[in-house]
Amino acid sequence: MNNNLLTVNIAGLKLQNPTALASGILGYTGDSFKFVEESGAGAIVTKSVGVSPRVGYSNPTVVQAKSGLINAVGLPNPGINEYTEELKYAKSVLKVPLIVSVFGYTSEEYALVAVKAAEAGADAVELNVSCPHVKYTGSEIGQNPKLLTDVVCAVKSAVQKPVIVKLSPNVTDIVELGKAAVKAGADALTVINTVRALAIDVETQEPILSNVRGGLSGPAIKPIAVRCVYDIFEALPKTPIFGCGGVSDWRDALEFFLAGASAVQVGTAIAFEEPAVFEAINKGVTAYLKRKGYGSVKEIVGLSHQA
Ligand SMILES: Cc1cc2nc3c(=O)[nH]c(=O)nc-3n(C[C@H](O)[C@H](O)[C@H](O)COP(=O)(O)O)c2cc1C
Repeated sequence: MNNNLLTVNIAGLKLQNPTALASGILGYTGDSFKFVEESGAGAIVTKSVGVSPRVGYSNPTVVQAKSGLINAVGLPNPGINEYTEELKYAKSVLKVPLIVSVFGYTSEEYALVAVKAAEAGADAVELNVSCPHVKYTGSEIGQNPKLLTDVVCAVKSAVQKPVIVKLSPNVTDIVELGKAAVKAGADALTVINTVRALAIDVETQEPILSNVRGGLSGPAIKPIAVRCVYDIFEALPKTPIFGCGGVSDWRDALEFFLAGASAVQVGTAIAFEEPAVFEAINKGVTAYLKRKGYGSVKEIVGLSHQA
């Protein structure tokens, strides 16, 4: 949907509406991103890509919980060199901003992937420093202010595009990590990645996921994500935030805006509600803004802090 009420600008990215596809949902191909764009998303975040190809974990990699999914797919990806042609194609067919999610095992690897993604046409990069289930990357970096600072500094000095840092909820104080990322140069934050979780099959009496531990997503984590956005906005009111975690309808999106997010990313809801969820969110938010007499969604960002 494209109307003036919904346009937002996040770290220089112009979004026709404040919704985006979250990383890891619907994968890597330009055609699936185009389908998501046509379903109403205002931006696309790709699945995380690293320097080298990775197969990921063996099945089962996803299990349904009562209000969401627990996944440990293990960052399967083709590697940035193999992905470059598809990225160029995606960029050529998309009208909305294309954000490439990158990960690495060192700050140099993050920077290398970010540079190649930018060269292939990425409008911004999102640093996955928050994957909870792969060793030596993801949240092992995002839980440590020093490592996080090194990664963000390395990427910032290597690319001219906006750098978005995706934070982990699996920390004692998410604000400390948010501040470290912004001090190191992050242009925006995505809040949050999945919450560490585990499911057990009572018949086999064993953990269900092949990796044992995974990350919980979907409606179950929305209140955690809203709290994290609220905390980050309170401490860093000038830093644009993509709210992420359990958004499945326009009311959820509004909660994130009122907590301080400028836009929301949608992941698991696509598995349950299909990509039509974007159009439904945009319609609902537009109707709400009109009903309440606002001229732009920007006017309600962080409004709950005034209460
Ligand atoms: C199957 C699956 C794969 C995911 N892969 C990635 C990934 O590659 N990189 C990343 O940063 N987040 C990944 N995520 C996390 C989502 O982008 C998002 O942060 C999380 O699922 C919470 O949002 P949701 O409740 O709307 O799904 C993945 C989530 C799921 C369910």
